[in-house]
Amino acid sequence: MGLLGISLGLDQAYFKDFFEQNDSILRLNHYPPCQKPELTLGTGPHTDPTSLTILHQDQVGGLQVFADEKWHSVAHIPGAFVVNIGDTFMALTNGIYKSCLHRAVVNTETVRKSLAFFLCPKLERPVTPAAGLVTAENPRKYPDFTWAALLKFTQNHYRADMKTLVAFSKWVQEQESNNKLIP
Ligand code: OGA
Ligand code: NI
Repeated sequence: MGLLGISLGLDQAYFKDFFEQNDSILRLNHYPPCQKPELTLGTGPHTDPTSLTILHQDQVGGLQVFADEKWHSVAHIPGAFVVNIGDTFMALTNGIYKSCLHRAVVNTETVRKSLAFFLCPKLERPVTPAAGLVTAENPRKYPDFTWAALLKFTQNHYRADMKTLVAFSKWVQEQESNNKLIP
């Protein structure tokens, strides 16, 4: 987070402070073998709604990222983590850092396991971009929201996919205009 802050011309401590007392999530994925792997996906194409993902996949492999119009397999490197940007970090940087589209495929032979740590802000902390990242050339892209609201949206209303942040922004704006109608 320190390096990401520096890369954006912000103070090294900017995101460190933002994520202090975070409500992060750890997920253990278990993908059983499948007789028809071409007909299924372990995890469909999505961007992580969270902020930063640190993933450990086992030696089986199966993680793929979408870049340059194609899916690329991410090889298992012993002892290495895969780190990717999620939607909340994209919103925090006003779209300067893009969340990464990825999926996981299964195979006929072997169980696959992965371990994902999702860094998330504190549930009620407002997610708003740093002032310096909103400019005339790069105007505000997403409304203010809380991680609690995005978490609820992806758990109750919408299955995370490649358009989560856009769909969520629309939902937040609709909720706000509905609330204004209630005296
Ligand atoms: C996830 C995810 C990929 C994997 O848990 O969000 O994308 O390789 N997992 O298990
Ligand atoms: Ni993911």
